[in-house]
Amino acid sequence: MGQIMKIAISSDHGGNQLRQEITQLLSERGIEFEDFGPTTDDSVDYPDFASPVCQGVAEGKFDRGILICGTGIGMSIAANKVKGIRCALVHDLFSAKATREHNDTNVLAMGERVIGPGLAREIVATWLDTSFEGGRHERRISKLMDLEK
Ligand code: RB5
Repeated sequence: MGQIMKIAISSDHGGNQLRQEITQLLSERGIEFEDFGPTTDDSVDYPDFASPVCQGVAEGKFDRGILICGTGIGMSIAANKVKGIRCALVHDLFSAKATREHNDTNVLAMGERVIGPGLAREIVATWLDTSFEGGRHERRISKLMDLEK
C-alpha cells in the first residue's frame, strides 16, 4: 500500500463485523490506525461515531478515514457535513479507484449489509493505494471546497 499513512476508523452497530475485518486488513498491511469503536454491539447513532474520525482527518491528525454502517449511507452523509471532508460511499472497485483519482476523497464509507468482507477488503486496498490524479481535477476539488464557504 505504498506510502506511510495513519487511518482513523469507526462504525455503528451495523458495521461492527466489517470494521473488525478491515482493522485486521490494516494490521496485516502494517498500516497504523486508530479504532474509534464502538466497543459493544449495542445500538448506537452513526453520527456520533463518524464525528471523531472526520474531525481527526479534517484536523490532519489522520491521513484518511474509513466509516462503516449498515448501508454506508448514514455514515457518508454525516462525513460530508464536516468541513474538509470528501467522503465517498463505495461498493465496487471501479469507484474505489476513480474516487481517489478524481475526487481526492479522504474518507471512505461502506455498508456491511451491502457487500461481503472479501470485496470490502479489496475496495479498501484499492482506495488506499490509489493517488489523486490532479490536473483538471484540482480545479473541480477547489470548486467543491468553495461550497463549504
Ligand atoms: C442502523 O440500523 C442503520 O440504519 C445504519 O447502520 C445505517 O445503515 C444508516 O445509514
